[in-house]
Amino acid sequence: MSGAILGVETSCDDSCAAVLSAEGVILSNVISSQAIHDKYGGVVPEIAARHHLELLTPAIDSALAQAGLGLEQIERVAVTQGPGLIGALLVGVGQAKAIAAARAIPLVAVDHLQGHVAANFISPDSFEPPFVCLIASGGHTLLARVDEHSSYALLGETLDDAAGEAFDKGARMLGLPFPGGPALEALAAGGDSEAFNFPTARNVKGFDFSFAGVKTALLYAIRDLGEEEATRQRADLAASYQRAIVEALVERLERALDADGCGRVAIGGGVAANGPLRERVARLGLESHIPARNLCTDNAAMIASAARFLPECSPAAALALDAYPSGARR
Ligand SMILES: Nc1ncnc2c1ncn2[C@@H]1O[C@H](COP(=O)(O)OP(=O)(O)OP(=O)(O)O)[C@@H](O)[C@H]1O
Ligand SMILES: [Mg+2]
Repeated sequence: MSGAILGVETSCDDSCAAVLSAEGVILSNVISSQAIHDKYGGVVPEIAARHHLELLTPAIDSALAQAGLGLEQIERVAVTQGPGLIGALLVGVGQAKAIAAARAIPLVAVDHLQGHVAANFISPDSFEPPFVCLIASGGHTLLARVDEHSSYALLGETLDDAAGEAFDKGARMLGLPFPGGPALEALAAGGDSEAFNFPTARNVKGFDFSFAGVKTALLYAIRDLGEEEATRQRADLAASYQRAIVEALVERLERALDADGCGRVAIGGGVAANGPLRERVARLGLESHIPARNLCTDNAAMIASAARFLPECSPAAALALDAYPSGARR
């Protein structure tokens, strides 16, 4: 297999490895999740890093085996450089550097958010620029104009919490396990989304988002109802809360699409796995692309996909490659 790319992703608590063909077709996509964090109600950075040390090599071995390739048939290594948890990232970066150096093959450093955008470039149903892209994940919520495969222009971002963080914190208030997004979506399926009128931060100008208000509104609603009644109305609270987050995302997305005029839209990031959001975007009546759910949440196929369009590090730069944490700009 000529041109096969090995992708490595360890920015948070999933140890991910994938093999992509030179044409961007997935040959394997392994995600080894660290269930240990559930009991803490969130990801513990030091524990995540230590588990990557144990899980990443087996994940890479599985990815190669499932692709039917040996390491000697890999021609490029792609790795998430940041943003994310620094200790977790360093495990992936160290592993990728070692493989590239030992095999004398090129290393490509990938920004995690560029990876979420590049989930849309995976073959065979790749979506080509230009398009407006909504990325909503655990740590980020942004709107971008994508004109080329290798970068994006930021149109707007969240002023406070990320949409995924709002899902996770709301889920916690409703007594649901971590990560909260899928659990909250499941609970909401049996509830009335019109039961409570939670805010969508329409007053935030331009293409920026804010999720602090909706979170506080849920907290107050639960407090005002009292424990027993809040428990009885849990599904309605979840459905109404989910509706507010989805509406806030879609409202900003529509604003950006109206201003942009290209009429093409794609989504990405873990929250893009949310059923109601996927339905709303599909119903916009535009040319749209919605990656499979397992390509929205963290995975290494999207990192290898991004690497198809990014420059390789020089051998010296590959050896010196460092990770950058959340909050740091490239
Ligand atoms: N079905 C769903 N509905 C809503 N939210 C979801 C769903 N599935 C996952 N999420 C949310 O997506 C987030 C995880 O997304 P992702 O794996 O991209 O995040 P991350 O890598 O931790 O953050 P970032 O990409 O910003 O670094 C979590 O907040 C999770 O609750
Ligand atoms: Mg992510």
